[in-house]
Amino acid sequence: MSILERFSLAGRTALVTGAGQGIGQAFALALAEAGADVAVVDINPESAASVASQIEALGVRSMPVVTDVRSSDEVDQMVADIVDAWGRLDIAVNNAGIGMWAPAEEMTDEQWESVLAVNLNGVFYCCRAEGRVMLEQGHGKIINTASMSALIVNRPQCQVSYNASKAGVAHLTRSLATEWASRGLNVNCISPGYTRTPLVDQVAHLVDGWLADIPMGRMAEVEDLQGALVFLASDASAYVTGHELVVDGGFTLW
Ligand SMILES: NC(=O)c1ccc[n+]([C@@H]2O[C@H](COP(=O)([O-])OP(=O)(O)OC[C@H]3O[C@@H](n4cnc5c(N)ncnc54)[C@H](O)[C@@H]3O)[C@@H](O)[C@H]2O)c1
Repeated sequence: MSILERFSLAGRTALVTGAGQGIGQAFALALAEAGADVAVVDINPESAASVASQIEALGVRSMPVVTDVRSSDEVDQMVADIVDAWGRLDIAVNNAGIGMWAPAEEMTDEQWESVLAVNLNGVFYCCRAEGRVMLEQGHGKIINTASMSALIVNRPQCQVSYNASKAGVAHLTRSLATEWASRGLNVNCISPGYTRTPLVDQVAHLVDGWLADIPMGRMAEVEDLQGALVFLASDASAYVTGHELVVDGGFTLW
């Protein structure tokens, strides 16, 4: 098979969580452009439906699936619905995540738990449900969205719960990779640097300060992350597992 053929996702079935906007939307569109059918999973029904329409316009199948990844019951149902509709699940991208900024000494239990519930519990619930299907199939690609915050401590904003959750995602990824490597599954994660999305718009006043810490001198656009995802979703990465692919314009080098 030629190298370009090994990057093709034609005929594969995929899901992306948090695909209603931002990085997840770009991930879903990238998989579809590479040939996969893509289920658009999001807590927001309107944005999920809108992105599913964009994907169908590319000539592949799509479906919006409204799911709150904080609920393991909803996650199990989401995976069951996709497998019922399409017969199998080849690629799963667990991307839904939220940010929260507060000094640690002022943080409430609720604030702490709200971030962990989406960013860490949600990723585990998804991996577990997807892994059950993929282990039965004997193949599957799981890609989690971590963050460079798994590796460094952002400044000047205080975000201990986010940083801890993303370090958890990166190590959960390595752990699952070893549990499932001999049974046909690849489990990897992508760690983006600062990326222009509605999440970052919430702290837009900090952007100018961040730019000086980025060797490339700019934030990522969501398109900058698409190539890494297609690589990890495709046969081209068959021997890659437990890897954290950092896409940060060099941020973590300084
Ligand atoms: N933007 C960045 O700079 C950046 C950098 C590194 C990592 N990330 C990570 O990338 C991922 C996507 O970030 P983004 O910037 O696109 O964020 P975003 O806020 O633009 O999009 C997040 C999407 O997730 C959905 N979502 C939120 N809670 C959910 C839940 N409980 N169940 C299902 N869906 C839910 C939202 O509705 C939204 O569509 C997150 O995991 C984030 O932590 C972002």
